[in-house]
Amino acid sequence: MKYEEEITMYMVSNTIQVLEGYGDQILERFKIRQGIEDMPGFKELKVLKSLGKQGYDEVLVHTVWQDKAAFENWFSSREFHLAHRKPARTETGEKMVVSNSIDHYEVIVESDTTLAVGYVG
Ligand code: HEM
Repeated sequence: MKYEEEITMYMVSNTIQVLEGYGDQILERFKIRQGIEDMPGFKELKVLKSLGKQGYDEVLVHTVWQDKAAFENWFSSREFHLAHRKPARTETGEKMVVSNSIDHYEVIVESDTTLAVGYVG
């Protein structure tokens, strides 16, 4: 069943804290695609601008993969390395990214309007 296959996916997020006022510049860098879409087992990317943070900006990167192996393959790939080789810096040479945190998830329930269409139980 298609529905059951799709809920075994693997998700990895990276939450990036950015110097206040520099979030939009980091987001612009993400608009230049650097190959993740061509990786085997890649399902979805969302780059999110966090709202309402005080004192810093935040960007959330959510990636969804067919399974853990697919993520690990990308994580150790040339594509990943190239996308991360040049840390963004301000005019004065300071790193824009202050800290980050990586979290791994198993996707248990997934529901959206695309999946709902045609699903009759
Ligand atoms: C180790 C600390 C990490 C930092 C500070 C970081 C930061 C960044 C930044 C600033 C970019 C934009 C590209 C650029 O600036 O040229 C980028 C690209 C990206 N990062 Fe990271 N990242 C890290 C690790 C990770 C991890 C573990 C993931 C897994 C979810 C991830 C997911 C992505 C994705 C999907 C892209 C776009 C790649 C593409 O377009 O093919 N990053 N990262």
